[in-house]
Amino acid sequence: MNHLTKQIEPNKTLIHNTAKPESETVTLELRNLAKMFGSGKSQHLAVDHIDLEVKQGEFITILGPSGCGKTTTLRLVAGFENATSGDILLDGNVINEVPANQRPMTMVFQSYALFPHMSVFENIAYGLRINKLSQQMIEEKIEIVVNLMNLVGLEDRMPHQLSGGQQQRVALARALVMEPRLLLFDEPLSNLDAKLRIHMRTEIRRLQQRLGITSLYVTHDQAEAMGLSDRIVVMNNGQIEQVGTPPEIYLKPASAFVADFIGRSNFIKCTVLNRDYDLVSLDFFGETVKLSANGHAFERGDTALIVVRPESVRLNVEDSTLTIPGHIKHAEYLGTYVEYEVELERGHFISITDWNPLSALHAEGAEVQVCFPPEALYVLAE
Ligand SMILES: Nc1ncnc2c1ncn2[C@@H]1O[C@H](COP(=O)(O)OP(=O)(O)O)[C@@H](O)[C@H]1O
Ligand SMILES: [Mg+2]
Repeated sequence: MNHLTKQIEPNKTLIHNTAKPESETVTLELRNLAKMFGSGKSQHLAVDHIDLEVKQGEFITILGPSGCGKTTTLRLVAGFENATSGDILLDGNVINEVPANQRPMTMVFQSYALFPHMSVFENIAYGLRINKLSQQMIEEKIEIVVNLMNLVGLEDRMPHQLSGGQQQRVALARALVMEPRLLLFDEPLSNLDAKLRIHMRTEIRRLQQRLGITSLYVTHDQAEAMGLSDRIVVMNNGQIEQVGTPPEIYLKPASAFVADFIGRSNFIKCTVLNRDYDLVSLDFFGETVKLSANGHAFERGDTALIVVRPESVRLNVEDSTLTIPGHIKHAEYLGTYVEYEVELERGHFISITDWNPLSALHAEGAEVQVCFPPEALYVLAE
């Protein structure tokens, strides 16, 4: 445990982490981690045996719907909850038994949790004072984070004299000044208005990249997860559905849940005609398409699920290889894009988003050719 406390020893430079995000050193590891709440009939497995590796300098986001176990996972890492089973490792050492206040981590919350009766300076200084740093050392460190977080001139204000965005920056400064081995965030931007949320998102990403602090971030907001993360962990029902970079998660969803939760998807059930190693031939509205089976062991006659994003489908494209006739059931013009619902065969509907402001508008009832670029079709098991 000695090496853990050593991290928070006084030292002048703030975060001196030189490792790149692509570093292979694992900072945080979760092994078969589980958390059960309640007892008897009201037992609830909030975290259902998850495995995860967070590399040095990496920004990882746990993304999932409300109640899926994100906060519980973060609280287990921070030491605010005890694991029911499994292990948490920091720099290769099991820390299950290390009390929260001795883990070299700081958490940034949604409710900034600033002390209302303390100035900005004292709020930021709080943890350093607990660690008994000298006044000079405290002032030096705070000067660095105050500059970093654009809080210069606000040091003597009280929290109620700050805007929401400023309060959140103070909360971040207070976390950063501790030079944590791991920075934890629990939906830190949820209380901010939409514009400020996007601004702070950029700010957090910039800081994290500049300082190289390993970060574990929790949100239910997919745009936040996409914009911030090196990798995203999609969680559902206490379990991890997929871990991947934002493009991997978006373009190669591991399950229908992921395809539906992140962005929007059309799901088309198709009969398997044939499989040749990893190529599967499918009956797609009467046309035959050959696609990667993505490792699924399909057999002739099985049903496969094709996932296709609404923005990948196009209307009336001359040179398309896979075209199915249909008619516009519903059209909604929204300026930046047009949203169509197209009926292909009786009862088979496809959502299409047209982001091209210059493309022709199609009226409800119009006959159209619906063009599916084969590379935009992704196969899942049903
Ligand atoms: N202290 C607790 N006691 C009992 N159940 C809890 C407790 N904390 C969380 N839960 C339950 O565990 C599940 C996961 O909660 P949580 O981790 O807060 O989800 P999320 O942060 O993804 O919204 C939910 O069903 C929640 O009701
Ligand atoms: Mg939560």
